[in-house]
Amino acid sequence: MADPTVEDLQALSERPSAPVRTETSRAARPHIVGPDIPQSPFPIFLAGAVQKGFGRGGKDLGVPTANLPDESITPMTHVCQPGVYFGYAQVAGLPGEEAKVHPMVMSLGWNPFYKNERLTAEIHIMSDFKADFYQHDMKTLVLGYIRPELDYISREALIEDIQTDKRVALNSLARPGYEKFAEDAHFDL
Ligand SMILES: Cc1cc2nc3c(=O)[nH]c(=O)nc-3n(C[C@H](O)[C@H](O)[C@H](O)COP(=O)(O)O)c2cc1C
Repeated sequence: MADPTVEDLQALSERPSAPVRTETSRAARPHIVGPDIPQSPFPIFLAGAVQKGFGRGGKDLGVPTANLPDESITPMTHVCQPGVYFGYAQVAGLPGEEAKVHPMVMSLGWNPFYKNERLTAEIHIMSDFKADFYQHDMKTLVLGYIRPELDYISREALIEDIQTDKRVALNSLARPGYEKFAEDAHFDL
């Protein structure tokens, strides 16, 4: 049977607890994921005004994230399981390089390490941004799945996995079947 989608899990009175990442499973992580071209349900296009998160991403983890509004993520929640995804994102109304389409990693779910009660779709855009961009419009194309949401024995272990996610995303996007989506008509080019 297919893994339960985010919507399937939302309908449960109690969600199953996430597995804890072990050293052995971390060491065995692949460096590239998915087929050579995105396959259904990808690409998934999402857009909305950037929301404030709980504020831990930048301060606590060194990985600032921009949250998508709840109503904008339904195209993803009814076909995808919670987890970490990769693709491209673009933020409107920023100067120069910052306005371009950049690689991104996304965490969709309840962040088991922080035991969030609220479902979030958090996007870390891989570029240097000088200022925050709350309320700016953000467009994103989700192109593939990296891994499930996990629980961790320490903040350091979570940070290490997020750093690996970023490398996996860049490797996975550096294939012609994915690179071309940086110039997709959904973005402002
Ligand atoms: C690429 C990526 C992967 C993540 N993976 C997990 C995970 O497996 N488990 C988890 O509990 N949180 C995960 N997180 C979420 C972080 O816990 C989250 O960004 C943090 O709670 C900061 O949120 P805040 O800025 O809203 O406070 C991930 C975040 C990113 C960007």
